[in-house]
Amino acid sequence: MRVLTIIPTYNELESLPKTLGRLRAAVPASDVLVVDDNSPDGTGQLADGIAAEDSQVHVLHRKGKEGLGAAYIAGFKWGMAAGYDVLVEMDADGSHQPEQLPLLLEAITDGADLAMGSRWVPGGGTVNWPLYRQAISRTGSTYSRIMLGMKVKDITGGYRAFRRSTLEALNLDAVESVGYGFQVDLAWRVAKLGLTIVERPITFVERELGASKMSGNIVVEAMINVTKWGLAARWEKLTGKKKSAVSK
Ligand code: GDD
Ligand code: MN
Repeated sequence: MRVLTIIPTYNELESLPKTLGRLRAAVPASDVLVVDDNSPDGTGQLADGIAAEDSQVHVLHRKGKEGLGAAYIAGFKWGMAAGYDVLVEMDADGSHQPEQLPLLLEAITDGADLAMGSRWVPGGGTVNWPLYRQAISRTGSTYSRIMLGMKVKDITGGYRAFRRSTLEALNLDAVESVGYGFQVDLAWRVAKLGLTIVERPITFVERELGASKMSGNIVVEAMINVTKWGLAARWEKLTGKKKSAVSK
């Protein structure tokens, strides 16, 4: 099983070296792809330096900040073209502990098409995450779960392992959402295909260095989209017809 861990970065100069070091120590078999959106703080050059020393680390440079979703899609395409069997999403800031990656990889070995790190299942949780962020995450997850009829407890989570065949089955070019919305969008697409999604408990540790890039707009975009998708799915069920909102 060839594993590629994709780490999107935008101004993660202080966090990235630590996360890379921990990842390489915790799961030495995984190759790494840093996808940098031309970070003004020089994260891309720092990653180049690390890649020059470690043949298992690669860097994909993009022209400018286009959001987490676009960075992951570029990373997935790179990894699929390079022939990896499993593609992992991991934040650069240490929130997704590399030491917990084996839990997700085991789930894939056990047959999952998508393994999701989950804060909101027994054994999962958060450390130093502000209450308001926890509230947004729990509320957003619950709303999405009801609206989309999905069982996943932590649908916005961004620590995930995809079987290659899962990504191949998705139309990645049709995914436009960013931020939280991107994570919900991908999970929803996987669920609609009837593939197996499993959650494994993780402890999400709030970043110590640097700043979050998530904004209120991103949360609003996600909730509007979830509402559209949920209504479109109900419409489809009722009428057997597809509406443009879901056919895209
Ligand atoms: N290349 C690139 N381009 N990377 C980006 C961009 C971008 O436009 N925006 C954010 N990132 C990177 C960050 O550098 C970091 O490595 C990762 O994406 C997550 O960004 P954060 O800003 O740390 O996000 P967060 O901690 O607020 O949100 C996390 O939790 C959300 C809720 O569960 C992420 O894991 C999200 O994916 C998740 O939806
Ligand atoms: Mn973060």
